[in-house]
Amino acid sequence: MNIVSAGISYVNVLAELHTEGFDAPWSASAFESALASPGTYALIAKDEQDEPLGFVLIRTVADEAEILTILTRPNARRSGVARGLMVEASKQASRHHVKKMFLEVAVDNPAAHGLYTDLGFKEVGRRKAYYDRGDGGRVDAVVMTLELWSF
Ligand SMILES: CC(C)(COP(=O)(O)OP(=O)(O)OC[C@H]1O[C@@H](n2cnc3c(N)ncnc32)[C@H](O)[C@@H]1OP(=O)(O)O)[C@@H](O)C(=O)NCCC(=O)NCCS
Repeated sequence: MNIVSAGISYVNVLAELHTEGFDAPWSASAFESALASPGTYALIAKDEQDEPLGFVLIRTVADEAEILTILTRPNARRSGVARGLMVEASKQASRHHVKKMFLEVAVDNPAAHGLYTDLGFKEVGRRKAYYDRGDGGRVDAVVMTLELWSF
């Protein structure tokens, strides 16, 4: 697996991949706007045939970084793709003097919660009814943080 930077030329690829993991995927123009923001960047994981396996989008502000979104294609899950992306994102953030990473994850997303817990993220709070599930139902977000001293 190779992990490389995904700049503005990747926005269509990122939008296509996002449909494979989210009910309300981001459009290519949403990724374009995000990547045009200062301190925001994406990393994409590819296999030996150069096919995309997943990606992560990160925003850094001063000494904090937020994971905006992360996804692994369904047929590549549970093989370390997201862990690899998160570790590389953490190393890059650390090199840019980021001290702490944070993210929000829905309480009904055990895969993502398991990933972040596995990486050492700790729950620091909750946002009530943060995510709209489209059927009138809403679920809480868990706010999690990781200190980057170890990278
Ligand atoms: C969450 C997601 C990114 C995980 O990607 P992945 O590449 O399959 O994760 P990895 O293989 O790197 O897993 C690393 C660790 O995370 C945890 N984990 C991953 N998937 C899990 C699952 N389904 N259930 C429980 N724990 C899980 C495990 O601890 C795993 O380590 P292990 O396989 O050695 O047990 C993927 O399931 C996905 O794309 N989901 C849809 C989009 C999404 O929900 N994104 C997160 C939004 S906050």
